[in-house]
Amino acid sequence: MDCRRLPAAPDHTATDLPPRRTLLQAAAATALAWLAPVSVGTASASAQASRTARPVAGDHLVRNGDDRAAPLTPADIVAGGAPVIAWPVTPADGVVRNGSRLNRILLVRLAPDGFSAKTAAAAADGIVAYSAICTHTGCEVGTFLAAEQQLYCECHQSRFDPRDQARVVDGPAPRNLPALPLRIEDGRLLVAGPFTTRPGFEQG
Ligand code: FES
Repeated sequence: MDCRRLPAAPDHTATDLPPRRTLLQAAAATALAWLAPVSVGTASASAQASRTARPVAGDHLVRNGDDRAAPLTPADIVAGGAPVIAWPVTPADGVVRNGSRLNRILLVRLAPDGFSAKTAAAAADGIVAYSAICTHTGCEVGTFLAAEQQLYCECHQSRFDPRDQARVVDGPAPRNLPALPLRIEDGRLLVAGPFTTRPGFEQG
């Protein structure tokens, strides 16, 4: 028979156990400590997703480089002037969708009486919006040739007709610039629908 004595079992009495309420509070604090970082991470992931998502109806627009992110109004787009490069902004939380270059938008204002039916339907007070990314190899289309009423890509001299869905008039671009329908609400330019075709380019 083994006469070695087993160690005595700890003698927890009512006085050296933590009170039940303290245990519950500690458990709650631990749970909150785990939940808090998850909720912050979810918010950032949501903002990041908004930054890279394509524009949707209801977005407003801000000028590229405007640190105040002031919503663009029709008065900001001068008739016959150089294209204004802009970004869409989410309506609910004001996230500028500048996480993807494919969200760069160009805006020009023209006499609407020369618009094709589809372009007239997508325009607001003579203002039309297109993807600023050339469909050839992705340069920015940033020039408006006033005499010809054409958008011009300086990389390989593609030309587009902004009065007719940015149809390719000349150069190697393989397809139109995607259009972004617009509307005006409360004096601001708003996106009225998604890009009519996929923004981006075919080579490069
Ligand atoms: S990238 Fe515009 S014409 Fe080539």
